[in-house]
This record gives sequence, C-alpha cells and structure tokens, in this order.
Amino acid sequence: MTNSKHPIISVEGLYKTFKVAKEEIPALIDINLQIFPGEFVVILGPSGCGKSTLLNTIIGLEKPNAGHVKIHGHNIYNLDEDGKTVFRQKNFGVVHQQSNWIKSLNVLENVAFSLNAVGHKHNYSLQMAKNSLSMFAMEGFAKHKLTELSGGQQTKVAVCRALITHPPIIMADEPTGNLDTASAVSVMSQFEVLNRVYKTTIVMITHNPIYTEYATKVINMMDGQISSQDVKDLIYETSVDHKVHNLAKGLVS
Ligand SMILES: Nc1ncnc2c1ncn2[C@@H]1O[C@H](COP(=O)(O)OP(=O)(O)O)[C@@H](O)[C@H]1O
Ligand SMILES: [Mg+2]
Repeated sequence: MTNSKHPIISVEGLYKTFKVAKEEIPALIDINLQIFPGEFVVILGPSGCGKSTLLNTIIGLEKPNAGHVKIHGHNIYNLDEDGKTVFRQKNFGVVHQQSNWIKSLNVLENVAFSLNAVGHKHNYSLQMAKNSLSMFAMEGFAKHKLTELSGGQQTKVAVCRALITHPPIIMADEPTGNLDTASAVSVMSQFEVLNRVYKTTIVMITHNPIYTEYATKVINMMDGQISSQDVKDLIYETSVDHKVHNLAKGLVS
C-alpha cells in the first residue's frame, strides 16, 4: 500500500486509562497509527495488552483520555450519540470479542438487523441475511435463538452481521478465537476475498501470530503500547494454499 493516499483510520497520541477503585489502569499509552484504504492490518499482542480497548476507541465506543481518532478525516467523538451510531454503521462492520445480540430476535433477524439499520427494507434484509448465513453453512440455524448456538457458531453469525452491509472497514476482535480450524479458514478466506476483490480495509485483532500471514501490515502491541509496525513489501507473497496448510496443521488456537 502506498502512503500517498489519505489514511482511512488515523490515531494520534491516544491515551486511555480505566479507573478501578482508586487505581488508574493505563490501557493505551501514546498510540499512533495510520491505516490506509485496502490494507489488511493484523493487530497482534498478548491478552491484556490493550487490543480491544484500541478497537473500541477507534469505533467511537470508548472515549480516549487524550489524543485523536479520525476516520476519513472525521473525528467521531465530535458527534452526538445518534451521530456516532450512524457513523459507525456506515463505516464499520464490527465483530466484537463478545457478541451483543438482540435477545428478542432469532439468528436470521439479528443478521438482517444490520441492513434494516442502514435503511434497507425488511424482506430484502432477510433474504440477504439468509444468503450471508449460507457462506458459513449456517442457514439451517436461521430460526434458532442465539443462546442455542455454540461460541464458534455465534462467531460465524457475528461475521455475517459485520459483512452484510459491505462496510468500507471490517474491525474484527479475535474472530477466530473460538473457532475450529475449518471454520477459522473459512472466516479468514472471506476476509481475504473482501480485501483483495472488494478492497475492503480489514483490521483484525489476534493473539495468534499465524494470522500475520494474511496481513499487509502487522501492528505489534505490548503493555498498552505499539512495540513495532511491520509493513510487508510483497502484499500477497504467501499463497492461500500455504496458509490453509499451516492452519490445518493445527497451529490455530
Ligand atoms: N472496562 C474496563 N474497566 C477496567 N479495566 C479495563 C476495562 N477494559 C479493559 N480494561 C483493562 O485494560 C487493559 C487492556 O484490556 P483489553 O483492551 O481488553 O486487552 P486485550 O484486548 O489486549 O486483551 C487490561 O489491563 C484490562 O484489564
Ligand atoms: Mg481483547
């Protein structure tokens, strides 16, 4: 990716501290990064290093104590709550580490809700949701409640919900964390197709270095800070077959 383009995500001097009892926990310390349209970014780091907090600050859910987040040059924190929600729905497809489902809706309706929210008609949204579930052979669970699904099945539904609006940016927080190898491969393949064919910007968070094979840029985090950033010269140097082979060897946790 060239740096001549404007960043789609720009983070400058970001600090986030959580107050627990009387203690201040520094979750993010002076984070600076730029993500350009079409990049496949993997944010890699051990549990507790601040990855989810960074994702939440980028999508406007966690106001930083200091610093700026800009999406397409817009500061999301200048918007009111409704404005932030609309901005988030337009710009991001988010796979959260813990999926938050609408409990009164079934699997199909939860996926369709993303499209309803951005103005599509109900019947169209349901049809698209059905197509989307079939990507992961989940259409048979359409009428189920989310509580009837395993963690891995819920992740696949969460990925459908994130992809269905064709957002310019996918933000995925440990999307392969509780998937078996075959499911992890199918989720990663979907991300790869979106990135290569549709130029969707992907930001994937993981603690598992195996997934850096998919990345055009790797951002390493440690103790709330970025320890290094690695932009790959040859973006798609590794063949899909090779990656699938590595995943199939059971290197996925
Ligand atoms: N809502 C919160 N309240 C208090 N502490 C939090 C909260 N969210 C995260 N933290 C703390 O911030 C640090 C980073 O957490 P997190 O961003 O979840 O890390 P990761 O996603 O890399 O596992 C951890 O020390 C965690 O305990
Ligand atoms: Mg996390």
